[in-house]
Order: sequence, then C-alpha cells, then structure tokens
Amino acid sequence: MDPLIKKILNFKREDIPNYEPYLMVGGGTPGPNLLRGQGVYVYDIEGKKYIDCTSQAWALHLGYSNPEINQVVKEQLEFSNHFHIGFYTVPRYLLAKKIAELFPKKMNRVMFTIGGGVSIEAALKIAIINRPEAHNFISLYGGYHGTSFMTTGASLTSTFAYGKYQGGAKLAHFCQNFIRVPAPYYYRPYFEVCNRDDRDEVDRRCLEELEMQIKYGSAGPVCAMIMEPLQASGGQIIFSKNYLQGVRDICTKYKVILIWDCIQTAFGRMGDWSAANYYGITPDIMVCGKSMGAGFPINCIVISDDLEGVKMDFIDAHTFGNNQVSQVAALKQIEIIERDNIFENVKKVGGYLRENLEELQKKWCCIGEIRALGFHIGIEFVKDRDTREADYHGCSKMRDIGLNNGIIFGLGGSGLGKNVLKIKPPLITTKEQAEEILEKFEKTLKEVYR
Ligand SMILES: Cc1ncc(COP(=O)(O)O)c(C=O)c1O
Repeated sequence: MDPLIKKILNFKREDIPNYEPYLMVGGGTPGPNLLRGQGVYVYDIEGKKYIDCTSQAWALHLGYSNPEINQVVKEQLEFSNHFHIGFYTVPRYLLAKKIAELFPKKMNRVMFTIGGGVSIEAALKIAIINRPEAHNFISLYGGYHGTSFMTTGASLTSTFAYGKYQGGAKLAHFCQNFIRVPAPYYYRPYFEVCNRDDRDEVDRRCLEELEMQIKYGSAGPVCAMIMEPLQASGGQIIFSKNYLQGVRDICTKYKVILIWDCIQTAFGRMGDWSAANYYGITPDIMVCGKSMGAGFPINCIVISDDLEGVKMDFIDAHTFGNNQVSQVAALKQIEIIERDNIFENVKKVGGYLRENLEELQKKWCCIGEIRALGFHIGIEFVKDRDTREADYHGCSKMRDIGLNNGIIFGLGGSGLGKNVLKIKPPLITTKEQAEEILEKFEKTLKEVYR
C-alpha cells in the first residue's frame, strides 16, 4: 500500500488540530470526519458506521465504492487521466449519444462541464445566444442553482436572510438580473389563500404571478426562466403536473426559454431518467449533474433541437470539462441502472419508506407534512400542526441526534432556517435497509420529541 494511503488510514481524531487551521470550507452542514464507504454505509475515522440518507449531496446513486464503477474507472485510467475539451474523445461521443437516447425526443445535443453552478451558467449563456435582445431571467422563491456569482442571483442562498446581507446575499448585487416569482409551496404558500389545502388555488396564483412578472415586471423582455422541476434544497417541494405544464405554456407563449435544473432529479431519483421523462413535459434546456458520474465529477447541459447551441468560440470552456474517467463512470452507471432495473427499486422501496413514514406521522404531531416521490423524501417539522409553525430547532436536532444513532439525514427548507429533514439514500437501498432507516428515524424522533 502506498505510504500516503497508510497515512490517511492511520489518521486519528487527535491529529485534527494539526491540520484544521489550514483549511477553509464555504458551505455544507458540519458532519463527522468520514473515511470510507461501502454501499449505503459510511464509516468515520473512529470506525463508527452510519447509514447515509444523503448519498453525499445526492450524488451516489449506486452508493459508495460500487465495484463495477471502480473497475471501469481503473481500466480507463490505464489509458488516460485527462484530455482537454478541444480534443475529440470516444467516451464523450458515447455518453452524449446515450443521454440523447434516454431523454425526451427533442433533447439531442449535449455539452459537458464540471460542476452544477457553471452548468447552470452555461445554460443561461445558451439562452442568451438564442434571445440576445432579452436581458432578464426568472427564478423561483426557494430555488437553488449553485453558488457561483450568477447562480447566486437565482438561488435561495441570497434571499434566505430576509433582508439581511448574509451568506449568498452578500453577492446578490453583483447579479441582479433575476426576477423571483413564488413557487407553489402548497403546505406553506407564500401568500394568503382562501383554503390552505387548495393546491389548485396555489398553482393558479403562482402561474398568474409568473405571467404578470413577464408582462409587467421586467425591464425589457425576459430571456429565460430557470427552475427545478422538484424544488429540492428549498424543502423537497413536489410541484403538480398542472403547475409544470402551466409554466411550460406561459414560457412558450412569451418566448421565454425554459431551463429545468435537473441536477438533483435526473438519472433515477424520481424513478425515471429525468423529470421531463416522468411528467411528459419537455423544457428547452435541461441541466444535469451530481449523481450523473456515480461520484465522479461531471455535469451536462442538454438542449432542444429548436435552439442554437454553443460553438467553439470560448463562450464556455473548462480545462477539466472532458473528464473521461467521469464519462466512463456515467456510462457504466447507466448500464447498471438499466440492467438491474433500479427504477423499480426506487418505486418499490421509496413507496415503502413513504407509507411507513405516513404511519409514523399519525402518531407524531411534530411531522407536519411528508413529501415523497421515489427516493426524494422530505419531512417537514412543525411546532404545531394547526398553525404549521416551522420547527427549525427540532429538525436540526433530528440531524444531530441522528448522527449519534448512526444515521445521516439531510436538512433543507426555504424559510428562515431548515425545518425539512431529507431522506434521499442511494437508489440501491434495499427494503431491509429502508427498515433500518425507519427504525433509526423513530428512535431519533423519540429522543428529540419526548
Ligand atoms: C438543483 C441544484 N442545482 C445546482 C446545484 C449546484 O451544483 P454544484 O454544487 O455542483 O455547483 C445544486 C447543488 O446542490 C443543486 O441541488
């Protein structure tokens, strides 16, 4: 074994203070010091085992260290580790064609990049190429699209602080071309409603607001609208098909390019290749990433046949945008998903988790709402079910105590804090492992709320 790897494996908690002062981290929720993972489990440097309901920022569809992915990556590494984007390479051809085959009929041209934020920016650039006369963009309250300058302007990170300059809000005035409109947050609408359980009213009001902003709220025409088809970081909000179709129709009517940020939803978490496949609604541009490379960094932008794409004129170039290691990992993952019928597992085990969580909801009034679609599961914590007052503190304790109990939950929410606990394990999670998640969730509930 290489001495470097030995050194990593022998690292002890006592060593941390010798290294910690040299490091800066700009985001994330602090967690244990992780060392190695296998399947849905991960171990920290002291050997403590956790079942991971975050898939590491929802990026590990096949879990940690999938042997087939590892093998194909090792084999690819024997041939090359890096070629620049200007050189035409075979894995990139294979992956672009495969993605075009998997996604809706009109989505046939693919560009690869290295991260979510830059991919969203690339999508916005493509929108500008197609509508050069229009200078504004629309995004949704509670949307999240990254932390680069431009995507900060579109994301919840710059509105989280309610009028204060905190976090991403400090960057907001560098990227002010975004007009935000309310998303249909059915459980907690952004406006007064006649009947708080009338989802149709929420959809209708949000669509009206969108149309009004396009017509009257933008100085000059709107170039593009960027949105997640399922609002993930902002609270796991599952939009109705009616709303998504309404947005599609409004964008078509006003020639606004519709960009779906599918970075969390694509490649199987909903039980289909993408939200566009799942809902039968096709945006103009799709952006994918995270899980796409089975843990290796790769993102892509897929555009409709109706749009003009990029040319090799340096409008969007990245040194590491042609990573063959990630490309073969992505291709192998697609092969495994197809071969092992992973979508079936997502539907079956995701449904099992949902049903059992709904049973728990009957007993625990701190659970306000459960929003689940495949392995996209969000549990909204409240202080009181009638008033729906958010319980930020209880939800964050669920995560902390969960760690003691050997389970890693995710946190999200679009309000003053995070009151949505996220359960989004790898897509290979079995029914037995789902039972373990449920047991640990209930144990943690008892410790936090009793
Ligand atoms: C929906 C969505 N868009 C964009 C991003 C940004 O991706 P990245 O962190 O790779 O820049 C994220 C990351 O969490 C995301 O969830």
